[in-house]
Amino acid sequence: MEKYETHELDVLVVGAGGAGLRAAIEAAKEGVKVGVVCKSLLGKAHTVMAEGGIAAALGNTDPQDNWKEHFRDTMYGGKFLNDWRFALKHAQLAPECVKELEEWGALFDRTKDGRILQRAFGGHSWRRLAHVGDRTGLEMIRTLQDKLLSFDNVEIFQECTVIHLFKDGERISGALAYWRETGRFVVFKSKALVLATGGLGKIYRITSNSWEYTGSGYALALLAGAELRDMEFTQFHPTGMVWPPSVQGILVTEAVRGEGGRLYNSKGERFMQKYDPERLELSTRDLVARAIYTEIKEGRGTEHGGVYLDVSHLPPEHVKKKLPGMYKQFLEFAGIDITKQPMEVAPTMHYCMGGVRVDPETQMSRVPGLFAVGEVASGLHGANRLGGNSLSDLLVFGKLGGKGASEYAKSLSRQPLVDKDEVEKVVREALEFFERKNGVSPYEIHEKLKETMQNYVGIFREEKDLKKALEIIDELSNIPVSVSGNVHFNPGWHLALDLKFMLLCAKAIILSAIERKNSAGAHARLDYPNPPEEKYNHIVWLEDGEMRIRREQTPKVPDELEPILKEPPSRKWEKT
Ligand code: FUM
Repeated sequence: MEKYETHELDVLVVGAGGAGLRAAIEAAKEGVKVGVVCKSLLGKAHTVMAEGGIAAALGNTDPQDNWKEHFRDTMYGGKFLNDWRFALKHAQLAPECVKELEEWGALFDRTKDGRILQRAFGGHSWRRLAHVGDRTGLEMIRTLQDKLLSFDNVEIFQECTVIHLFKDGERISGALAYWRETGRFVVFKSKALVLATGGLGKIYRITSNSWEYTGSGYALALLAGAELRDMEFTQFHPTGMVWPPSVQGILVTEAVRGEGGRLYNSKGERFMQKYDPERLELSTRDLVARAIYTEIKEGRGTEHGGVYLDVSHLPPEHVKKKLPGMYKQFLEFAGIDITKQPMEVAPTMHYCMGGVRVDPETQMSRVPGLFAVGEVASGLHGANRLGGNSLSDLLVFGKLGGKGASEYAKSLSRQPLVDKDEVEKVVREALEFFERKNGVSPYEIHEKLKETMQNYVGIFREEKDLKKALEIIDELSNIPVSVSGNVHFNPGWHLALDLKFMLLCAKAIILSAIERKNSAGAHARLDYPNPPEEKYNHIVWLEDGEMRIRREQTPKVPDELEPILKEPPSRKWEKT
């Protein structure tokens, strides 16, 4: 009899946001035995924070739109530091993935003749975002969840956190997790493992991410021998709530600007006219976030340190119909009726463009059997992600990753082994926090980490700040942490376990940011304001416990695709 609860699977999906659910569906369709493990309750994922829509060139609202236009916008938005193979697949496959979602029951807003309605979003040349009011991510999760539950070869493990990946030689063989409620450990033996763990927003103080987003997937991949790419590119969504303090950072969807919302400073100036007179509020996120930050820093901010986002010029019924979530959010949290009064907003850490380096066809990392999909993977977005490209990313690459993982699992002739001694070692280490008596509280370390990232690794960056941040992160990583109580639902212990992952992610971001001595997309260096002279990406990995970094040339776009990219994109819909 096994000492620990043990499950044997073909494919283990870690994370149940859009990418994880989509991967699990595809693997289940292939008939293999699938497990989905998630930290939280099923349905609670950052996917729901992509409120405004799914970017897919369906051409319903603007018939001139097509995959070529979407491909071009994505490459320009990412400053051509995207891996074109991901951008191409994404643009070509997104429409069919959205239609598939519709077939599975997603209830999109409709055009008058009953097709999926699409709205404008920053950096997209056409009205491209298939949406459900301002709760598109939620509808997507609901639909995928319903679909997944129709398979009987899928088992779901909720409120269960993975803390270690096992390997048999070079191959992935499973994972160790603990039940959040009881603290008891679980061994998953699996032929293939798909990381769909989402982002790392919780290493910043102001973020749209909830408690789950501690960067565990990036760190687990690194520790298992995979590489990370482009970690310096962290996206600050231009509009998060600023007031009251208890809701600071909560997302104010880009759909507000997509529906015609305007940004003003405290002097009443529509300041985007200065920063991007052509695209105004629907410029790319990196640019709008920098513009807002600059207005605030230069003294033209609001009372609570934001700028105004206003929809009061739009018909109130339209606002309530298209932005019901925002209407309620501001009314309940801030006492603001957005049909009459402006919202106060400022940038909030939202998304990580970098992530695990995977194969564009299968989504497998350089570790055999280890796959990554969604935000935790990299390649599609380059230096800056366009709004709405995350939801289509989850669908397209979740599907490919689920297929890749199940095909890999089928190709193995036996279940790879999990070493019992390794299980014992990881369990022992996980419990050491209780034995250490004079360590520092994990909350104290987490506070310092968040402040460091917020203050020194933000929207504008400089060598001296980044080096300071690196020094602090190295110090924090060496401080012994201790936890009181026992393993029964103990958030302090959970945080202590997560800290190792968060600190590794912070280090990968800072190292990459120091090395990138130029400005591109979301990475803006005050001391190196010029764009890169050549296109390259940063690759980070661990070697003998040390983090290493190297530069690699960005894959060259093949000649036959060059004509698509010759003309820069321009905004094609009517100005508001
Ligand atoms: O603003 C939003 O609705 C977020 C969308 C996204 O991050 O893709």
